[in-house]
Amino acid sequence: MLSLRQFVPSVQQFVVGHRGSSGTAPENTLASIRKALEAGVDMIELDVQLTADREIVVFHDAVLGRTTQGKGRVQYTTLGEMQSLDAGSWFSEEYQGEVVPSLRQAINLIRGKAYLNIEIKPPQQDEDYHIRLEKILECIFENQMEQFTLFGSFHHGALAHLKRRYPELHTAAINVPNDKRLPSEIADEIGCEGFICSLRELTYKRSEDALRSGIYLGVYTVNTEEDLTFALIRKAKAIATNYPARIQEYLKQQ
Ligand code: G3P
Ligand code: MG
Repeated sequence: MLSLRQFVPSVQQFVVGHRGSSGTAPENTLASIRKALEAGVDMIELDVQLTADREIVVFHDAVLGRTTQGKGRVQYTTLGEMQSLDAGSWFSEEYQGEVVPSLRQAINLIRGKAYLNIEIKPPQQDEDYHIRLEKILECIFENQMEQFTLFGSFHHGALAHLKRRYPELHTAAINVPNDKRLPSEIADEIGCEGFICSLRELTYKRSEDALRSGIYLGVYTVNTEEDLTFALIRKAKAIATNYPARIQEYLKQQ
């Protein structure tokens, strides 16, 4: 498998399974990752959080309630408690008993089959997020995933911090809503390789600026054929979707 640094310039587009295949399976679970891999995605985007006992889990929200029957905040919940929760039933009965994976478990499934895109959420209230960053890095390096992982974040300070410590890591700034700066201006501050924005934010102005500056563009969430056409016309390279199988089919027909 090529390193991400070699892979990105070698392709015109690549498909990113957003939270796995979150349109067809419960987001950020092993079932969702499996479905994305079956669809043949190039990369899988996962959100991660730090538990009370300093483990990294694959989970989107800071609170438990939306995707499990648990209550309270992830940061005050242990890994064991997280893994006793049902993270599948909210999506459909078929996925009852699906667990919240640790980042390690997710990596074990993805390694060698697809690239990983870890989204680093902005710092939470009462949190020393540097501990979270350290634990994420520890897990990536321990599992020899550093050449195969894209770190993305709305929190550009976290990416700048990563790049200062490990310039060889691959990073992409996610556009903060209402930030009018161009990709090149943001990349100048961080040293990131990519720039990710929502479909709504994907203007020709941003696209042309990124292309001119050698920054590749990622866009989320591309779920229909119209979305895909919109993204491709604006030269987006990383196509993040909740429906990877569907988008792969559309891409084949292009
Ligand atoms: O990486 C882009 C996207 O995942 C950011 O938003 O809320 O889906 O994690 P969200
Ligand atoms: Mg995300």
